[in-house]
Order: sequence, then C-alpha cells, then structure tokens
Amino acid sequence: MAIIIDGKAISESIRAEIAEEVKRLARRRIHPGLATVLVGDDPASHLYVRSKRRTCEELGITSIHHELPKTCTQKRLLALIADLNADPKVHGILVQMPLPKQIEEAAVLNAVDPAKDVDGFHPVNVGKLLNGEECFLPCTPAGCQQLLVRSGIDPAGKHVVIVGRSNIVGKPMAAILMQKAPGANATVTICHSRTPNIGAFTKQADIIVAAIGSPLFVKASMVKKGVVVIDVGQNRIEDSTKKSGSRLVGDVDFDNVVKKASAITPVPGGVGPMTITMLMKNTVEAAKRSRQTRD
Ligand code: GUN
Repeated sequence: MAIIIDGKAISESIRAEIAEEVKRLARRRIHPGLATVLVGDDPASHLYVRSKRRTCEELGITSIHHELPKTCTQKRLLALIADLNADPKVHGILVQMPLPKQIEEAAVLNAVDPAKDVDGFHPVNVGKLLNGEECFLPCTPAGCQQLLVRSGIDPAGKHVVIVGRSNIVGKPMAAILMQKAPGANATVTICHSRTPNIGAFTKQADIIVAAIGSPLFVKASMVKKGVVVIDVGQNRIEDSTKKSGSRLVGDVDFDNVVKKASAITPVPGGVGPMTITMLMKNTVEAAKRSRQTRD
C-alpha cells in the first residue's frame, strides 16, 4: 500500500520553521509584511485571500489588505501596485487571480516589483528560474518539490511526467525539477490537453505531477507500479451522499491509483496547504533580502 504524503503535517513543520525565522528577524527589527490585493467579488478568491491573511497572522507576518470593486480600472489597480512597490513596510505583493476581464493580467504581473513578487509570476523571476538564478519560486510547484524532498523522495535521475502546462503550475514545475540543483536533476516530460495518448507517457513516469484541472483524470491504468503521485487538482464534483451535494477531488483517481503507487498525495490535505506555506516563506525571504540590499 502506498505512503500517503501528509501535506498538512509537512506544511505545519515548515510553518513552525517560518515562525522561528520571523522571531529571529524581529530581533533585527525586520517585520515581514505581505500586501494582498483582491479585485471583485469572486467567492473562491475571497476564501483564498482570507486564508492567506489568517496564516500571516499565525506566523507573525504583517498582513496589509486592499479590496477594489469588480468595476475597477486597470489604471487604478496599477496605481495601487505602484504605491505598494514604494512602501518599505510591504515586502511581498500578491494580486489574487483571476482578475475582471477589463484588466490585462500580464500588465498587472509586470507592474509588481520583481523584488516583491512573492508569487514568482513576474517575467524577471520566470526568466531567472529558467536560467537557474536565485529567484522567488511560484508557490504551488515549490510546495510540490518540498512534498517530495521532505518525504525522502529525491527527484534526481527520475523521470517526472507533468500533466498540465499552466504558467502557475506545469511550466514552473518543469523548470524547478530540471534544474542542476539539490531536490531537482530530474528528467522532465510535459503532457497537456493536446497530447495524444497521455497514458503512454504517464506509464513511463517514476513521478507524476497532475495539474490539468480535470477531475479524476489520471487512472490506475495510466500509471506503473511503484509510481509517486503528486496531485495538484482541486475539482468540485457532484456527490449526493454529501450534505453540501458536492465533494472535492483531485486530478487523480485516488481510490484506484493508491493501490499501485508507492506514495501519493491526497485531496484535500496534500498539495493544498503547501501553497500558502510557500507564499509565507517567500514573503519572509523578501523581507530578508530587502534589508540586505539596503545595508
Ligand atoms: N489564483 C489561483 N492561484 C493563484 C496563485 O498562486 N496566486 C495568485 N496571486 N492568484 C492565484
């Protein structure tokens, strides 16, 4: 039977390390601050941002929150980002996606100071990641790497098949794991919605990262025995046995794949808790670096 990778427990242990680091920084009068920007009234985005702010509080990180209406112009949002870029109390800036359609996402991502880009989405950080330079890693793929490493699974020399090519997960996951660096050195294949016969690729994988946004997409017939599976999916599907009428499932058919895997992340309780944890880690790192560049 597979080892169930406990994202909640791993996340808790990293959060304890971060809380210690925040205390050490306070002795040097450095107080990490994260600005969250929420545009519009998407309920899922509100939930995510609330959770990020709560975690800041728990770890002693200052949370600075801005809400703008869904009719907000791009100009107004860019003006707010310029203010946050200039504010020395703000070390990290997170603009919650998705944005209303009158706002161009790329213009917003490009406006965030790369030194405060704790999401790791600015083209400067994306380029640095690809080149193997020090940068902020996007939180979800960075969390996936930590789940592997902290479970004693070294990707070095392994064939990692990533299912999904988004800018938030698939592409940066490939860049992280192909680096010549500890916790990486993998051989990486990316499959996506236009790849014919994805199962032919996933069957060759030592490690699968599923991030295609399709419920229960990876079936037991698509994996080899002993595979390690990281499931990034968060899909709500109908379930009449639940009081809410629905339940959360990943991109992996967990109940069947678990029988063949050597290790697997559950949904919920796998990758999910890691994303916010890595955001906190990036914010503390940004605060440390801001002092280094000023001294
Ligand atoms: N929306 C969904 N995932 C993310 C994320 O990682 N960062 C931001 N800013 N918005 C998101």
